[in-house]
Amino acid sequence: MTFTPRVFSGIKPSGDLHLGNYLGAIRRFVPLQDTHETIYCVVDMHAITVWQEPEDLKRWTYEIAAAYIAAGLDPARSIIFNQSQVMEHAELSWIFNCVARMGWMARMTQFKDKAGENSENVSLGLFAYPSLMAADILLYKATGVPVGEDQKQHLELTRDIAKKFNHDFRKQIKALGFKGDFFPITETLATGPAMRVKSLKDGSKKMSKSDASDMSTIYMMDDADTIAKKIKRATTDADALPSEAAGLAGRLEAENLVGIYAALSNRSVDDVLGEFGGQGWGKFKPALGDLAVSVLSPIADEMKRLVADRGEMDAILRGGADRARAIAQPIMADIRNIVGFIR
Ligand code: TRP
Repeated sequence: MTFTPRVFSGIKPSGDLHLGNYLGAIRRFVPLQDTHETIYCVVDMHAITVWQEPEDLKRWTYEIAAAYIAAGLDPARSIIFNQSQVMEHAELSWIFNCVARMGWMARMTQFKDKAGENSENVSLGLFAYPSLMAADILLYKATGVPVGEDQKQHLELTRDIAKKFNHDFRKQIKALGFKGDFFPITETLATGPAMRVKSLKDGSKKMSKSDASDMSTIYMMDDADTIAKKIKRATTDADALPSEAAGLAGRLEAENLVGIYAALSNRSVDDVLGEFGGQGWGKFKPALGDLAVSVLSPIADEMKRLVADRGEMDAILRGGADRARAIAQPIMADIRNIVGFIR
């Protein structure tokens, strides 16, 4: 039997997709289709850990699924679905809630950041968030997860849950006929150098959907004029572009814009600076604007076409969910057995 390594990743439908989601995540999912069995989820159950207007949740769920496809994920190869259609995610996350320890969750920096001073008032789901994420991954025994730096701690927790489950139930796992561990140890999958897109207004902050200024974020659905305008008004310093990457040190805004150019054109930063070194922003920004429009506009057009076709989107998500369930169900049946649930 040949072993195809399985990849799982997910994006939360809690806001409009932006360039950071595209360059940092979605675009990196595409080449993995050639080398792995790929499962890409729209994690709507994670989204509701904070309040979501139900109509927005639906719209964003469709939007992410459409972006996956418009960016080059092939629904005939990759499994594309929304999490809530496969109820085994919820079932396994409950079991993991009983494996993970309060202290593990309390240490999660993302929870501490999100809860802030308000930790008595956030949802119980927000606290348990990483346990559902571990369930997403381990429900398919996925071994590779392409995610950014900010999710590393959650993946560590996924490994801790897998190890504790393997340890606590080792007798039952063995009795079921498994030679070694039941859950694999999941690794972060690096797919080339990570592009961490920063705000167009402040190079020390991540590009984000929750930025106070609309001008700091390029949204996937922005039209060509809006993209060009946002790049034109992006904050920069007064110096000309350096002729090699080392010259960007300490120039956060310059580094971000050149990095975006390099990522969008699939070139190295040094290569881009070889072309633009010595020139001013008046030259570089229009070139970046044109490039961004040429890459993003066809994706936006395809996203718009897809989201307008609810019938097609529903069929794709349902088909993906059916395929996901076909993998998940036998694994879940083993888990129930191991834990001691009667069926
Ligand atoms: N927590 C991830 C994020 O905020 C989203 C996510 C949920 C995820 N489940 C996952 C990512 C499983 C990778 C694998 O970005």
